[in-house]
Amino acid sequence: MPSFSRIGPVVRRRLFGWTDPAPDALAGRAALVTGATGGLGRATAETVAGLGARVLLVGRDQARLDDLRTLLTERHGEDRFPAFVADMASLDAVRGLAEAILEAESRLDVLVDNAGAIYPERTPTADGIEASMALMAVGPFVLTAALLPLLRQSRDARVIAVTSGGMYTQSIDVEDLDGARVEYNGPRFYARAKRAQVALVREWARRTSGSSVTFTAMHPGWARTPGLTESLPGFDRAMSPILRTPDEGIDTIIWLATAARAEIESGRLYLDRRPRSFDRAPQTRLVAAERRRLWDVVVGRAVIADPAPD
Ligand SMILES: NC(=O)c1ccc[n+]([C@@H]2O[C@H](COP(=O)([O-])OP(=O)(O)OC[C@H]3O[C@@H](n4cnc5c(N)ncnc54)[C@H](OP(=O)(O)O)[C@@H]3O)[C@@H](O)[C@H]2O)c1
Repeated sequence: MPSFSRIGPVVRRRLFGWTDPAPDALAGRAALVTGATGGLGRATAETVAGLGARVLLVGRDQARLDDLRTLLTERHGEDRFPAFVADMASLDAVRGLAEAILEAESRLDVLVDNAGAIYPERTPTADGIEASMALMAVGPFVLTAALLPLLRQSRDARVIAVTSGGMYTQSIDVEDLDGARVEYNGPRFYARAKRAQVALVREWARRTSGSSVTFTAMHPGWARTPGLTESLPGFDRAMSPILRTPDEGIDTIIWLATAARAEIESGRLYLDRRPRSFDRAPQTRLVAAERRRLWDVVVGRAVIADPAPD
């Protein structure tokens, strides 16, 4: 528990002598953040903007995006914050988003797959995919696949998936991506989607090994955000004195985006700047064959060509 609370980063900062990135650490680089208008995504967008990056703001609400874009442009006196509206749970919207980015942008060095939510009730999307899985696994997969050619043009590209410790509690039957045979419970399906997300991160890393693109997952710990307060009010109240601030929650995102390439290991899950285990219980583990099969299942549901064939 102390590890996920704000005690974790406070102690580890001192213990491991964490340093902050140079003020211009991302100058000349371009970073995309999904879910940029709230919580951890907004903190990430603001921080990478402050480090000099061109920031591609992806959100689902035009007005919130416009407000954020105006704020960043005024704060930095530069117009380097293009905004894109997309519901990350809709495959059509994600395809449209990727097309718009490929048309308008000439480089991409950092992709932060952050948008996430807990759905109180089972919700199939228009694509017929369970909504948590669509938002946190299939949608980001389609976006990454479409933007991979642009990422590959960078000499050092980093794809960073924001996962959750909830993932440790769930496995998934890869033949039942939507959990049709599983009793619905919002946090459980959120955790299943996060389990799929990290399994896909491992597959991306394996299939692109030796390339200039690294794929990592990170767990922010427990951070006080609108999403946490709204979806887990009891937890929020009980834990409030020791919840991380959004800036503490995103520390490892920023570190994964800015640390020297040699410090980052593709295909790993990080908490507080250190690699962690993907599993806490053997029954939740997806073995290599299951991860490969999950990739094929997701490619099929996304109805795209395999972006990194085995
Ligand atoms: N906070 C924590 O303690 C914690 C712990 C573990 C993992 N995480 C993960 O961290 C990430 C950020 O969470 P948070 O706590 O910052 O939550 P949050 O405050 O609810 O922010 C989530 C962001 O995702 C966006 N979003 C939600 N559904 C979307 C959709 N269908 N399409 C596009 N964007 C969508 C939201 O857009 P709007 O701005 O329009 O609402 C918001 O910007 C999530 O992946 C979450 O699972 C958080």
